[in-house]
Amino acid sequence: MSYKMDLSDIDRDGAVSITRQLIDRFVTAIEAGELAPEEKLPPTRALAAAAGVNHLTAARVYRKLAEEGYVTATVGRGTFVRALAPAAADEQGDDWQSYVLPDREASYQEEILSDAFRLARQKGMISLATGFPSPRFHPTKELAEHAAQAFAEEGRDVIAYTNPEGLLALRERLAESGVRRGFADGPDEIIVTSGGQQAIDVAVRAIVEPGDVVVVESPTFVGTLAALRSTGARVIGVPVDEGGLDVAALEQVLARHEVKLCALQPACQNPTGADLAPERRARLTALASERNFFILEDGVYADLRYEGERLPALRREAPGHVVHVNSLSKVLGGGLRLGWIAARGPVLARMTTVKQGADFHTSTLIQHIAARYLATDAYASNIEASLPYYRERRDVLLTALEKHLAGEVRATVPRGGHHVWATLTRSVEERLLYSEAVRNGVSFTPGGAVTVERPHRTSFRLSFSLVEPEELEEGVRRLARALREVRRRSPTAVAAPFS
Ligand SMILES: Cc1ncc(COP(=O)(O)O)c(C=O)c1O
Repeated sequence: MSYKMDLSDIDRDGAVSITRQLIDRFVTAIEAGELAPEEKLPPTRALAAAAGVNHLTAARVYRKLAEEGYVTATVGRGTFVRALAPAAADEQGDDWQSYVLPDREASYQEEILSDAFRLARQKGMISLATGFPSPRFHPTKELAEHAAQAFAEEGRDVIAYTNPEGLLALRERLAESGVRRGFADGPDEIIVTSGGQQAIDVAVRAIVEPGDVVVVESPTFVGTLAALRSTGARVIGVPVDEGGLDVAALEQVLARHEVKLCALQPACQNPTGADLAPERRARLTALASERNFFILEDGVYADLRYEGERLPALRREAPGHVVHVNSLSKVLGGGLRLGWIAARGPVLARMTTVKQGADFHTSTLIQHIAARYLATDAYASNIEASLPYYRERRDVLLTALEKHLAGEVRATVPRGGHHVWATLTRSVEERLLYSEAVRNGVSFTPGGAVTVERPHRTSFRLSFSLVEPEELEEGVRRLARALREVRRRSPTAVAAPFS
């Protein structure tokens, strides 16, 4: 039997291995129907001769094709194009899944994120990796009462489908705060989402297309990075300093690229805790209007301010260019999954469509409960009660860093939020420090997981909101011990977070 396929032009010096090239040829021919289901393939010796490869390579090609589910091979009968998609699960267990799901290694960010959740529950571990609000400020009693009232007063509607933009009663409450804070002019500008993460994701999907250029603060929130990367856009990081996003650096990017969107947190930024300086705010919104790009303003930490003047949301200055995202997670509790977007113009309709495609709408019940809660002054009282608690932990952490890592780190003094961003004065290899710290019983967020480019310095985020003061001090002591150990083992190492 001779080959239907011409295999004479295999690239023998290319970057792709000969085996892989042959596999890909077969896959293409099978998928195009040029090799029909159940068709017998020539023996490996014939393949070897046709492709000018040795017999072992030919056998490897058929074996890989079988592993990937394209052919079946039976000793004595030969190799056949598979009749159907890989066979029934009961014959093969769940192995078929690895044939149909293409290989996808977890990214560094994903690894670190799942580590953070896992280590936070590990006995004996002091987790400085998660910045959730402390459960002591979860208003469970009030929410339970509002839930009971919602069931009693709304009856069956309380769990009925609703519209994708969300319940009017809730959007009205959010808009009242929007008018005060500057992020919205009325309920028509608001879409309720399932948390701030979905708000970011919906906005990004509505605006960004593969190949676009987008800019984001670096470091930033890991979920923003993930959402931007998932679009296939080119993501460019712009540094953050005490004055927030470095707008002069952004201007350099704008000189070279047509930017579609710039994502930032202008107040109490995660992880630095910085605010965008007033002159930078004005310049940024002017640039967005001149160059017509969207600003994605994330305000999830803006209510948790320890010091510094609170400025209106950036959206007030350029309401057509700024898409504002926010959530109740950092004040009330992340498990509520209640967030929102404020915007106007065609982007609003697009985002409504994307939101509808994602999950129809956010839970009607949760929206009813949130609307009732926000109609009282409990939200403001909750913040007032929590700020001294968080501020105390921030200060304990900063003091512990000065005490145990004097001269070794420079740390930001966050104006708000749940995190401190620390940078070593002499770099070490980030993964080494991370694993040594975990071995010593303390975890943190390594800088490489929240920065766009490979950082030149070793930085990390330390979150203090969930940790008792004495544990914060002990956590920093363990971190200092881990750093000494890493320095002892590799005195000349540099920051290199990516494998
Ligand atoms: C800056 C920032 N934006 C958005 C989110 C996501 O918020 P949510 O938990 O409401 O999805 C977080 C959560 O950590 C965050 O830190």
